[in-house]
Amino acid sequence: MDYVVETEGLSKEYETGFLKKKRNLALDGLSLSVKSGQIFGFLGGNGAGKTTTIKILMGLIFPTAGTARVLGKDVANVKMHSRIGYCPESPYFYDYLTANELMDYFGRLFGLDAAARKAKTDALLTEVGIAEKDRRRQLRKFSKGMLQRVGIAQSLINDPELVFFDEPMSGLDPVGRRDIRDLIANLKHRGVTVFMSTHILSDIEALCDEVAILRGGRLAASGKLSELLAKDNAGRALIVEVQGVKADEIRGAVEFISGATIEPTPDGANIQIIDESDLDAVLDLIRKNHGRLTRVEPAKLSLEELFVRDTTA
Ligand SMILES: Nc1ncnc2c1ncn2[C@@H]1O[C@H](COP(=O)(O)OP(=O)(O)OP(=O)(O)O)[C@@H](O)[C@H]1O
Ligand SMILES: [Mg+2]
Repeated sequence: MDYVVETEGLSKEYETGFLKKKRNLALDGLSLSVKSGQIFGFLGGNGAGKTTTIKILMGLIFPTAGTARVLGKDVANVKMHSRIGYCPESPYFYDYLTANELMDYFGRLFGLDAAARKAKTDALLTEVGIAEKDRRRQLRKFSKGMLQRVGIAQSLINDPELVFFDEPMSGLDPVGRRDIRDLIANLKHRGVTVFMSTHILSDIEALCDEVAILRGGRLAASGKLSELLAKDNAGRALIVEVQGVKADEIRGAVEFISGATIEPTPDGANIQIIDESDLDAVLDLIRKNHGRLTRVEPAKLSLEELFVRDTTA
């Protein structure tokens, strides 16, 4: 198996406060492996250690313990940077440059000739949705979402085979999010591996092949999203959605069924049973109370439930 990112027991302790006397363990023995060609979602609440991990992988800060390899090379090896792209959280650029000039500058860093720089700049700024008239404006006049788009374009100028996006959707409006979502899906089609941190759960569900969830600098869960969501379900639990009855009116009867629970909804109630053989009893109950059955579906842990469970103590 080809792993493009591998960390082993990665830890980072920040020294903070007056005379650096306080210590803050931001990462605590993190071991991760990311397969080539996938979109990998890096999840966790505020302060969980996502940005710290990404900065270590970029060689911007150093771990206090453990090892990290990117594209098979130790992160201290600067050479592999020509093969990776990076868009930091809230990108900040020298803001008297225009978008075109910034792209040109990064193109030069990677040794592209003038024609290639111009072609790449045009193609990438189009792909991230920066209008032509805006490309000649200074970045200090750009909105947060426009800067985010430029940050993503900038990270792709060297045709990287692996990109790190730290919260790529932050600051974007719904159209911007859709643009960047499409761009990320396209990168995967072209064979680029995407390592992205985000809080936006719908983007993770739409895009990510595998995820890792961090909590307090430690790995709380990892694997294929579908498997993580299925894991906690006994398999036979069902949700029965009913309209036209009040939860309180049938609560007693529902709770008579072993393991069944009921929750009110705006137009009725959701009844959860843990064994599908109890479905007939629930349907009888609904009929007797003149309710309308609107849906029966397997009870699945939602990503939100998984996230809340794995990111809080
Ligand atoms: N330069 C620093 N000096 C001291 N502590 C830091 C520094 N950078 C981060 N930390 C601490 O490390 C922990 C992890 O921070 P990090 O920025 O990696 O979290 P994150 O998962 O990216 O959070 P967010 O979702 O808010 O971006 C936090 O407790 C934070 O306070
Ligand atoms: Mg962060």
